[in-house]
Amino acid sequence: MKRRSFIKGVMAAGAASLLPAGAVTTLLQGCSEPSKAAGWDFDEVIDRSGTWSIKYGRAGENRFAMWIADMDFRTDPAVRNALQQRLDRDVLGYTSAPDEFFEAVHAWEGKQHGWEIPREWVGYAPGVISAINQAYLTFTQPGDKIVVQPPVYDHFRMYAERLGREVVDNPMILESGRYRMDFEGLEKLLDERTKMLVLCNPHNPCGILWDRDTLARLAEICEKHGVIVVSDEIHADLALYGKTHIPFCSASKAAERVGLIFGGPTKAFNLAGLSGTAFCVIPDKEKRDKYLGTLRAAKLDEPSIPTIVATIAAYSSDTGWLPALKKYLEGNIDCQMDFFKDNDLGIKAFRPEASFLVWLDCRALGLPQEQLMELFRDKAGVYLNNGASYGAGGEGFVRINVGCPRSILQAALESIRRAIS
Ligand SMILES: Cc1ncc(COP(=O)(O)O)c(C=O)c1O
Repeated sequence: MKRRSFIKGVMAAGAASLLPAGAVTTLLQGCSEPSKAAGWDFDEVIDRSGTWSIKYGRAGENRFAMWIADMDFRTDPAVRNALQQRLDRDVLGYTSAPDEFFEAVHAWEGKQHGWEIPREWVGYAPGVISAINQAYLTFTQPGDKIVVQPPVYDHFRMYAERLGREVVDNPMILESGRYRMDFEGLEKLLDERTKMLVLCNPHNPCGILWDRDTLARLAEICEKHGVIVVSDEIHADLALYGKTHIPFCSASKAAERVGLIFGGPTKAFNLAGLSGTAFCVIPDKEKRDKYLGTLRAAKLDEPSIPTIVATIAAYSSDTGWLPALKKYLEGNIDCQMDFFKDNDLGIKAFRPEASFLVWLDCRALGLPQEQLMELFRDKAGVYLNNGASYGAGGEGFVRINVGCPRSILQAALESIRRAIS
């Protein structure tokens, strides 16, 4: 079935009607009732056709687009209203970043993450990945080594290599169903050519919220070896189940000295298409000046009007949309965890502590990676991310995006169940 007609079918009839009667009962046994937060309907199936969505464009004819990290939900009405009001002013001329932009980020770190910091630590960042690339250019030279800890978000490696840096793996250790950093391995591989480590905090794709001790230990080792830590905290605002995100530079004095944080509202508030919407927090003055100097030199230091307006609106929102979203995501994750527990398909899901990306261990299926991807894509019609793309330790895994209405998730899970059994 073509994706568009599938979506139309879902909208007309509800996803459950597309499934065999028995399958619906099986699905609902493991899942709580879809939660409807007052004022928002995360259950609403939104037709994204005609919006140039990368997620749906690349998924093509596959019925379920569950890969790239944006969600099939409307954004917080506070953000939509602010953007609409700004557009109503008609004139979109050259605009400087107002102090309210930096103040909104500064206040958010305190309010959301309990991290009270001096205002001057906060700066603009031209999108998280672009910002990390600028950090590569600022603090490393071609031929220098940059450490990543796979399986991890693939763009860290991709752009470092494009810029002629050597990427060195310090793979995470998977033990008793949990990932941890390999500090011994790290100490062994750091040498005088190693200039930087890129941390994913919270971790994509494994959904880990790193604890304070781990972050402090990492900072200590990196400082000892003169290695700068770039912490990608784009998923920070989506800590789930009452857990807490710890900003890397808040973990210890050493972390404050060696760390640069890049974050933004684009994941939590579903604004990924507002490219360039991000910020940095850099406690160390020398590093901050150097970094912001690189941005200025490249004329990358000017946020666009949508970036300014959306950031201020998101971080000042009092609508309650974000807590409601997190509750809904927890419900989706619970639903999926129960599904894989109740259906013995040879797939084990890792419960993420943050965000809407779930890491699925499919090694028990015993399929080569390409066949595994074919199973999901061609047999189940579910387009998701190939675990192998996240580097060492990703073979036999896939990443699925559950930031969608629960009816769609349930239908996708049932489709996977039928494809495998
Ligand atoms: C860990 C991580 N960092 C960065 C990005 C992309 O950030 P940006 O769009 O601001 O470049 C993503 C998007 O999926 C991500 O998961």
